[in-house]
Amino acid sequence: MSKKLFIETLGCAMNSRDSEHMIAQLHEREGYETTDDLKAADLILINTCSVREKPVAKLFSELGVFNKKKKEGAKIGVCGCTASHLGEEIIKRAPYVNFVLGARNVSKISEVLHKDRAVEVDINYDESEFAFDDFRTSPYKAYINISIGCDKQCTFCIVPKTRGEEISIPDNLIIQEAQKAVDAGAKEIFLLGQNVNNYGRRFSGDQEKVNFTELLRRLSKIEKLERIRFTSPHPFHMDDAFIEEFAKNPKICKSMHMPLQSGSTKVLKDMKRGYTKEWFINRVEKLRAECPEVSISTDIIVAFPGESDADFEDTIDVMKKVRFDQIFSFKYSPRPETEAEHYTNIVDPEVASDRLSYLQALHTQILDEKNAQQMGRVYRVYFEDLNADNYVSGRTDSNLVVKVKGSEELLGEFRDVKITAIGRTILTGEILE
Ligand code: SAH
Ligand code: F3S
Repeated sequence: MSKKLFIETLGCAMNSRDSEHMIAQLHEREGYETTDDLKAADLILINTCSVREKPVAKLFSELGVFNKKKKEGAKIGVCGCTASHLGEEIIKRAPYVNFVLGARNVSKISEVLHKDRAVEVDINYDESEFAFDDFRTSPYKAYINISIGCDKQCTFCIVPKTRGEEISIPDNLIIQEAQKAVDAGAKEIFLLGQNVNNYGRRFSGDQEKVNFTELLRRLSKIEKLERIRFTSPHPFHMDDAFIEEFAKNPKICKSMHMPLQSGSTKVLKDMKRGYTKEWFINRVEKLRAECPEVSISTDIIVAFPGESDADFEDTIDVMKKVRFDQIFSFKYSPRPETEAEHYTNIVDPEVASDRLSYLQALHTQILDEKNAQQMGRVYRVYFEDLNADNYVSGRTDSNLVVKVKGSEELLGEFRDVKITAIGRTILTGEILE
């Protein structure tokens, strides 16, 4: 009987890709198969996120539960960003943890598995990071790393500490990986990096200086590849050439993530984001002028240290002007080893909660207004998931999730769908024959 692996993945798409790589390595080298049953597992892995404080606190309570429920002799490993930043401390606080493997070290999974109490959290450059396994949890969509780490120093962000210096993966390796995924049946690729449109800033060796716009052009030449998505681009690097390529290249999905963080130029400066409120709005205007059908999503942090009522009003002002299609919003959470950790002008927690609720309520209203216009519209949908009650769901080019009645024959297929019912997170439709 094969050994069983239970893996929990938290955080961003990069963590999902890291998990795919670990699942594949453990399968090929160690004979593991995945299981959803914790009690049946011989190895339990938690692939963690440390961007905010809450998931870190949750980790230790969850580890306690896993340790109680696990079967006799099962191993527990902690991977990902929290592993990188806490390192040995995890084993000190939870001595039953067998190994700790940082976000940048996932290729070493089968090495640490056989060492007692191994802690592998080095963030230096290592070429093994470039050769991820072909295995993908979804055969329809291939996540592909294009760069690792982040060179920005946003004062709130722990990622540069956990994922290290930014290195771009050579474009020929990315194109090869994309070609293989397409040959295996994927019609969509999803390019990943903390700062994708800074691609080409630094390569590990001598290599032609290809930038992100050029990488997109080269990838879109792959025959049978129909959709290209990416996350996350940085508003600072959204130059005209990039926006124009985005708009005119038919393979690039017309959905852009533009992490605003704050609408106040003063707060943006304190965050060291490198752009102003005006620049952000200017980029949105350029994008919409070139590509009127684009949908725009964002990340917003409220109550960054020193954020005044007037600063928050600026964020609200940008929300009203841009009318984002989707927002991911958070209360500021101080993180170790970041510059803002030492800022003392903390916003009152009650004010922070009020601001978050206000922002989210405003967005819900915007979303409802936008959704009301979806009724009867027709979209091309790429189906990827089987849902309950004989529904199949997929995404539009603009990243709306749509479900229709149907079966697995639809998976991996494109269809024109007319919207017949509206929900906040998912639309319902009918296939047009
Ligand atoms: N480069 C990535 C950032 C990864 S972190 C990107 O642009 O998506 C993902 C999001 O978490 C950030 O955009 C930010 O909105 C949020 N975040 C990061 N650090 C945070 C902190 N200390 N407190 C609250 N939210 C934070
Ligand atoms: Fe973090 Fe800023 Fe990089 S949000 S991941 S330091 S672009």
